[in-house]
Amino acid sequence: AYPNKVSIFEVGARDGLQNEKPVTTQDKVVLIEGLAAAGIKRIEAASFVSPKWVPQMADSADVLANISRHSDVTYSALTPNLKGLELALDAGSDEVAIFGAASESFSQKNINCSIEESIERFIPVMELAKARNVPVRGYVSCVLGCPYEGEIKLSEVARVSELLYKMGCYEISLGDTIGVGTPLNARRMVEAVAEVVPTDKLALHFHDTYGQALANILACLETGVNVIDSSVAGLGGCPYAKGASGNLATEDLVYMLHGLGIETGIDLNQLVNAGNKISQALGRQSGSKVARALT
Ligand code: HMG
Ligand code: MG
Repeated sequence: AYPNKVSIFEVGARDGLQNEKPVTTQDKVVLIEGLAAAGIKRIEAASFVSPKWVPQMADSADVLANISRHSDVTYSALTPNLKGLELALDAGSDEVAIFGAASESFSQKNINCSIEESIERFIPVMELAKARNVPVRGYVSCVLGCPYEGEIKLSEVARVSELLYKMGCYEISLGDTIGVGTPLNARRMVEAVAEVVPTDKLALHFHDTYGQALANILACLETGVNVIDSSVAGLGGCPYAKGASGNLATEDLVYMLHGLGIETGIDLNQLVNAGNKISQALGRQSGSKVARALT
């Protein structure tokens, strides 16, 4: 049985825009405010990573300073290390996320250290976040395949997920970073992780490179997972995963969920407007089929 409600964690302003050509801070502010107006309650708004590595996110503090906030919306930021966390706290992030990988090569390319080193690096981040009462989300990349190593063992996905969960992450987001998964593999992966992390602490973060994300989500919803990451207008990709396209478009996800009778609290028309505005700012067509059909 599918859940009655799904919580959508919107990553377009971060995962999306980190891999698009740069837009202005004001474009980001308009996007984030449009997402909140559409009823989205969890918005990843910023990323405090090295601006040399990801210049698109260099204005993250300005973005957080300039949005008008809704009291019931959580604005979160990516923080790879203590420096990132300090910047995120100064900028007023409501919550932060650490990000590891189930693939050794991807960890090296993405955060310039091994999986074990990344876990060591996350310990002080976790401690300071706890001391400040800021919730920490944990991402695991390459859960259904790696651009450098190919297939990744389920035991490795489960091991890294469990490490981040035991370290104190309130939720583990399982990233099909390059969108290579298919429904049965995706469900098996979630089931393997659910043996070590409670299902209600898991989120799905599927990129749509091969057009499988909706099908994969549908298969995984049967396991009881009810948090899904998606990116308005299908923005983005991953700078360290060549050829990867953006996350599943939020509009397409909302359309499917509402069709299944699953509540999201989101107004699809307002969401489409927010996605179309940022697509215009980027000078490209929306990556959402639903947005194109409704526009
Ligand atoms: P490094 O070069 O090993 O780090 O990078 P370092 O500690 O040696 O620092 C090098 C320089 O960066 C220094 O500056 C630091 O001050 C600075 P310099 O002395 O050369 O002028 N620095 C920072 N500046 C701002 N904010 C910081 C920060 N940290 C160091 N937080 C590092 C290591 C982790 C910093 C780097 O590799 C990095 O920033 N990586 C981020 C890569 C990234 O953002 N990837 C995309 C996000 S992950 C993703 O998209 C996947 C996900 O969506 C899930 C999925 O789909 O699977 C989450
Ligand atoms: Mg991603």
